[in-house]
Amino acid sequence: MCGVIGYVGAGASPSFFLNALRRLEYRGYDSAGIAMLTADGVAIQRAEGKLSQLERKLDQLPAKAKVGIGHTRWATHGKPTENNAHPHRSGPIVLLHNGIIENYRQLKERLVARGYQFLSETDTEVAAHLLHDEYKKLTSGTPEARMRSALRSVVGQLKGAFAFGILCLDTPEVLYSAKLGSPLVVGQAEGETFMASGITALVEHTRQFMVVEDHEIVVLKPESVEIETFDGQPVTRPFQRVEWSVAMMEKGGYRHFMLKEIHEHPIAIAQTLNGRVQRDSGTINLTDLGVAKLPLKTLSRLQIIACGTSYYAACLSKYFIEATARIPVEVDLASEYRYRASTVDSKTLVVAVSQSGETADTLQAIKAARANGAQTLAVVNVPGSTIAHMCHAESLTKAGPEIGVASTKAFAAQLTALYLLGLALAQERQSLNDAQLRFYVDELVKIPSLVERSLGLSDSIERLANRYHHLSSLLFIGRGPQWPIALEGSLKLKELSYIHAEAYAAGELKHGPIALIDENMHVVCLAPRDAYYEKTLSNIEEIKARGGRILAVGQENDSQLLQLADDFIGIPECSETVLPFVTAVPLHLLAYWIAVRKGTDVDQPRNLAKSVTVE
Ligand code: M6R
Repeated sequence: MCGVIGYVGAGASPSFFLNALRRLEYRGYDSAGIAMLTADGVAIQRAEGKLSQLERKLDQLPAKAKVGIGHTRWATHGKPTENNAHPHRSGPIVLLHNGIIENYRQLKERLVARGYQFLSETDTEVAAHLLHDEYKKLTSGTPEARMRSALRSVVGQLKGAFAFGILCLDTPEVLYSAKLGSPLVVGQAEGETFMASGITALVEHTRQFMVVEDHEIVVLKPESVEIETFDGQPVTRPFQRVEWSVAMMEKGGYRHFMLKEIHEHPIAIAQTLNGRVQRDSGTINLTDLGVAKLPLKTLSRLQIIACGTSYYAACLSKYFIEATARIPVEVDLASEYRYRASTVDSKTLVVAVSQSGETADTLQAIKAARANGAQTLAVVNVPGSTIAHMCHAESLTKAGPEIGVASTKAFAAQLTALYLLGLALAQERQSLNDAQLRFYVDELVKIPSLVERSLGLSDSIERLANRYHHLSSLLFIGRGPQWPIALEGSLKLKELSYIHAEAYAAGELKHGPIALIDENMHVVCLAPRDAYYEKTLSNIEEIKARGGRILAVGQENDSQLLQLADDFIGIPECSETVLPFVTAVPLHLLAYWIAVRKGTDVDQPRNLAKSVTVE
């Protein structure tokens, strides 16, 4: 989805803007633009396609500017052409936008009647003309006071979602923004202030960040950040230090961010456990986990809501949480949850799981749960994200920045945080005795090293990919906790390689999908030695009997499975608690290597965005 950046300070070059936009590329985009304001006026360059197209035009921008804005556009209204790329200009106003203006048609009619000419097909251009129109109407006050007042009037007329970056030629050292529904952070360094859709764009320049909340207008100057509400009330909020580094956002010698991030599963899990499990006492530290203020003892049930990969992490955690905390757990797709008549009360804990913390479906679902009186917990990876702000409590997954559009290490970290939540509930509700709790704490601590061993499968899976990249369809099956892993494996394969893939609970095969099995159907069978092992083996036999081809994932010393399989991925021996963490790795690697073999864009697959901020 779109990315915005802005700068005010002693002077930034065109490459500053380009590099900051590069850090937002992972969000997904199809055109881009930069505006730089100098004493000679404003220079705007825009380009269709990737940032390399915009880079070719950088020499047409001034060498330095005290104020500037940049944008990556993920087309919603109008094709991804140069003309539709942001920023858009109206008189002295230059504006760019992340979000959607839902009432743009009505506003456009009004503005056309007032003599404005539209040069693009975007909804955003309406905001530029509207702001210009309101600004023009004000005849007294300084240009800055008029801009603030005009902006207040504009935000009152807009319906939809927005985070704007706005320059005004009459106020050459000021940058304006307003936020509703789309993410926005501001950063501060010595004599410079910044705004962006995410902290990744700015970590190179500052670690001091502040999250802008909905219904707020921001005015940035080199030495100050002023925030006021849409109705003009001043807001004071401290900056927070974020411990993300530039190195965390580089490829670190790997060919793709995705491969690096798959290799970061162990560290993502270890960091998420760190400080939250107390090995000496065999207990969970509720404060570090971020759940101390929740009424864990008196809850009657959990509802976990999420999308995509985060949803599969939630589905998987249900098995563990119900088994350990003995509390009912419902798992819902966030996009469905808000439209069903879910009954929640103050004894329901609604847990929103989201890597980005910005997913619009999850955001709306958690709003609805909160409005209906539920307790809410955010399990997010991006510090200070909107979902985290919206919930009563926040439990950060510590995967570090995830740049590849396909979620990998964040999945492992989410699973870890949700397992910890299960144990925190078990501890408080005494559904496990001390020895049982200690057993699980010890199990969790073993996960990073077992997952590390699973990463050793990368080379053999790369070779295996040579036999799978030409397929047009694959089926994935698993039982119990391996079913969400099958779902995750099939999602990864589809989104990266564009190969059709479906996942089923293995027990469901006979209820329909078995009709698909013939000698052309390849089935990825998750069959580690767990409580479901024998039953899954029977399913494999059924597939073989119908000529289906088996790629089995099971323990490395499982000779029985090895014999049944056409291809075999052998994972290290481990306990049932740890298994899903270990089986997720080869499926992430399989999708990765098949995509590499097919030559698709692994880090930015077609049509996808990292932060899905539209419903
Ligand atoms: O940021 P979130 O975790 O809320 O994102 C949810 C999904 O959009 C995300 O997991 C998506 O399915 C990924 N592309 C999966 O790899």
